[in-house]
Amino acid sequence: MFFDNAAGAQIPRRVLEAVTDHLVARNVQRGGPYTRSHEVDAMIARTRESVAAFVNARGADEIAFGLNATSFIRAISLAVGQTLESRPEIVVSEADHEANVATWLALERVGARIVWWRPREDGRMHAADLDAVLNERTRLVACTVASNATGSLVDVADVAGRAHRAGAEVFFDAVHYAPHGPIDVQAIGCDYLVCSGYKIFAPHMGFAWCRREAINRLPTFREDFIPDVTPDKLEAGTQVYENIAGMNAAVAYLEDLGQRVAAGPRGTSRTAMLHEAMRAIAEYERTLSSHLLDAVASIPGASVHGVTDRRRLAERVPTLCFSVAGIDSSAIAEGMAARDVGIRSGHMYSPRLMTRLGLMPGGVVRASLVHYNTLAEIVRFRDTLGEVVDALR
Ligand SMILES: Cc1ncc(COP(=O)(O)O)c(C=O)c1O
Repeated sequence: MFFDNAAGAQIPRRVLEAVTDHLVARNVQRGGPYTRSHEVDAMIARTRESVAAFVNARGADEIAFGLNATSFIRAISLAVGQTLESRPEIVVSEADHEANVATWLALERVGARIVWWRPREDGRMHAADLDAVLNERTRLVACTVASNATGSLVDVADVAGRAHRAGAEVFFDAVHYAPHGPIDVQAIGCDYLVCSGYKIFAPHMGFAWCRREAINRLPTFREDFIPDVTPDKLEAGTQVYENIAGMNAAVAYLEDLGQRVAAGPRGTSRTAMLHEAMRAIAEYERTLSSHLLDAVASIPGASVHGVTDRRRLAERVPTLCFSVAGIDSSAIAEGMAARDVGIRSGHMYSPRLMTRLGLMPGGVVRASLVHYNTLAEIVRFRDTLGEVVDALR
């Protein structure tokens, strides 16, 4: 049984078929004058359209493909680091995955001043707290949309509004959030947003959405003959094309789900269908969260770090981190693994948040679910967890 989806959601068969088809039929560089190479160009263009629909971009040119989210954060942060001028301050969230922290911290070498935005005692990032750290020297605010450790959501539209009013840009890490709900970059009003394919039912690859006016102003690395504008701006080198083909199939899978659940008339935009799917997923996942919270609450000595109030389930995704008094988190994850339940323990790459919550050095146990998980699995999870905890006491 698999409850570690935050470390990689499994793919639908059609994604595998798209990857295989690409490798078998057109495993070649783009830009050639013959059919196979044209097909690669066409596949990339199609996937760009699909991903643009997924995040509601203004145009497919605002989507860039790459290796993973971390390398995009690095590439964009390096570019931002060359444009600090009178705004040297970067606001970084203490609750984030280290990929969206260490990358910005590295800019201290080029004169950036890091300003910390800290979580409150509830472990959550409150947008209102930003006002105390934003000023006319703030260049950018970097934060996650959902914590990969606690599953808590951040009100990113509020973050963007406050940052923009201070004249700063915003960079959002949607890696953990993306499989759990709709993304609308225009409604959020952000400048940069990154995602990772393996969290959203696609193979290992990453994509970045960048507001074209913002990214086109930045000095990114490319060979001289590559156009210095979107979509080429952030795509130096050869991509893993088969995984881009897989990403397209993953979006098609979600779109089909949207068609199936759509209540109103069909035939509306791709984004509308994708958002239908993601809203249905979010609604179902709130039931998963509720049952998962009940399961952990049934274990004596267990405490959940994150939103537990059943009336506030819309403020979390079904990623639950918890600890059991007097028992090592790693022993619990190992005990569960020995009984064929895949979960994880440790700091979840968010060691600063764990330290702030007083949960280091051992860290927490994390169970992370997506829409293909079931209530029956949660019953088995609860029973197995009870057995493991009893054995360790
Ligand atoms: C919230 C968050 N941000 C960033 C990353 C890093 O993404 P990638 O593995 O694509 O570099 C992860 C990976 O788990 C994550 O959960």
